[in-house]
Amino acid sequence: TRIYVPCDTTALSMGADDVARLIEHHAGVQGVAIELVRNGSRGLFWLEPMVEVETASGRIGYGPVEPDDVQGLVEAGLFDGASGHPLFLGPVADIPYLKRQQRLTFSRIGITDPLSITDYRDHGGFDGLETAISVEPQGIVDEVKVSGLRGRGGAAFPTGIKWQTVHDEPWQQQKYVVCNADEGDSGTFADRLAMECDPYMLIEGMTIAGLAVGATQGFIYLRSEYPVAHRILNEAIRRAEAEGYLGQDVRGSGRAFDLEVRLAAGAYICGEETSLLESLEGKRGLVRAKPPLPAIKGLFGQPTVVNNVLSFAAVPFILAQGGHAYADYGMGKSRGTLPIQLAGNIRQGGLIELAFGVSLREILEDFGGGTFSGRPMKAVQVGGPLMAYMPESQWNTPMDYEAFGQLGAGIGHGGVVVFDDTVDMGEQARFAMEFCTVESCGKCTPCRIGSVRGVEVIDRIRAGENREANLVLLEELCETMVDGSLCAMGGMTPFPVQSVMKHFPDDLTA
Ligand code: NAI
Ligand code: SF4
Repeated sequence: TRIYVPCDTTALSMGADDVARLIEHHAGVQGVAIELVRNGSRGLFWLEPMVEVETASGRIGYGPVEPDDVQGLVEAGLFDGASGHPLFLGPVADIPYLKRQQRLTFSRIGITDPLSITDYRDHGGFDGLETAISVEPQGIVDEVKVSGLRGRGGAAFPTGIKWQTVHDEPWQQQKYVVCNADEGDSGTFADRLAMECDPYMLIEGMTIAGLAVGATQGFIYLRSEYPVAHRILNEAIRRAEAEGYLGQDVRGSGRAFDLEVRLAAGAYICGEETSLLESLEGKRGLVRAKPPLPAIKGLFGQPTVVNNVLSFAAVPFILAQGGHAYADYGMGKSRGTLPIQLAGNIRQGGLIELAFGVSLREILEDFGGGTFSGRPMKAVQVGGPLMAYMPESQWNTPMDYEAFGQLGAGIGHGGVVVFDDTVDMGEQARFAMEFCTVESCGKCTPCRIGSVRGVEVIDRIRAGENREANLVLLEELCETMVDGSLCAMGGMTPFPVQSVMKHFPDDLTA
């Protein structure tokens, strides 16, 4: 009997290792021969650790399984996929949360053993790379353009155009492919999940990028708080090299591509691409002025593709199935699917990959099932700590970069953080400014000093000091930060503050 127990950080933090050990122990006691596979998480976090049993009628799930549950589960017929236990979930593929998704990027996640190349290949892995090897570099760039893929790190810049810029730089020089895996936004975990549960997908996406633009060296700049991803990526790279998917002659193409993981140092600003490049070069993570764009002068002054994990992760599907197959999903200029991360005060948090166009309300209610506390929802922050708080009147907005932009909100990296009616939005506005005081790289005045003044002004408003004048001052300070900051850190910190002033003014002055 094949039993699956996830091995990613979420499942581990909920006791998955103990559950796995106990399952093996009880199988031994009962004399049942089992094959224990450590798969990735399906992304249904409230059910973790979710144990799956392979049966003739598909994989049967049980969850959330705590170590103390294992004995009872075994006695109730776990190894046969029996239905008698309260933790029985039925066929995993039929769980509505999973069944209603459109998983293109996360299609293998939770199904395969993350480190098994055979598993990866059996589920369509490396098909995209084989296609990429068979066409000219320009053909790869064209396919990515056709897909309509836009940067999933948050800025939503067309990936194909970015690759074209690097492709068009002279090929005699050293070029680089850099993956931004310094996932720092609150409520986001899709990069981590992709790396821990399907690492070859990232390796494949980056290798395809290397072939497309003429880069022979890639770096994954990984958030230091992701030790499990670090271990899995390094092992996956080693195995991919051994099988010829990386190295001096990628799958007989005559083209070279090497890959290394570099650990980040724990600064939010190092997720900004130029600061990241400085850090990769061994310097302090200070933001560089643009232009020149990294695509022209990036790592060590050379042409560099810098993309988020999810952007690279979308590429294998695009090359394997064709750009049109990806572009068939979505709405308007937001093509394909978005891996949404549902977090905060929510009953059913997790990873939800859906085509653009689904409304925020469907995600919160149909998937999320309301708040964890059971209290009414009050505000939702989509896209990280630098994005607007959205009141209920905006929850019917479709997930679409333009639709969110029109509201002064943003989709960012797809994180959705939910707050119930006990939240003090004035405190949240203060937190935005405070976060900026801590994380600012210090290079420019509106951000470095503006954020400190922002905290002070909000404190005065909340204390009832000269309220009208201070509200005007806060608005002017926000405008100065938006217009005068060098990068998104200072330039976007005012967005959550302004959204509180607009939609939750009573909280600010309470
Ligand atoms: P940006 O708009 O300046 O740049 C977007 C990307 O396009 C960059 O890689 C840039 O180099 C590239 N680009 C622009 N014009 C180009 C051209 N003609 N040719 C080739 N490449 C070109 O945005 P930025 O500052 O890189 O990112 C801001 C976003 O980051 C925010 O919208 C926010 O959502 C997101 N963010 C994400 C975080 C995360 O943890 N994922 C954390 C904080 C912010
Ligand atoms: Fe640094 Fe802030 Fe200026 Fe960005 S806006 S360059 S983080 S000081």
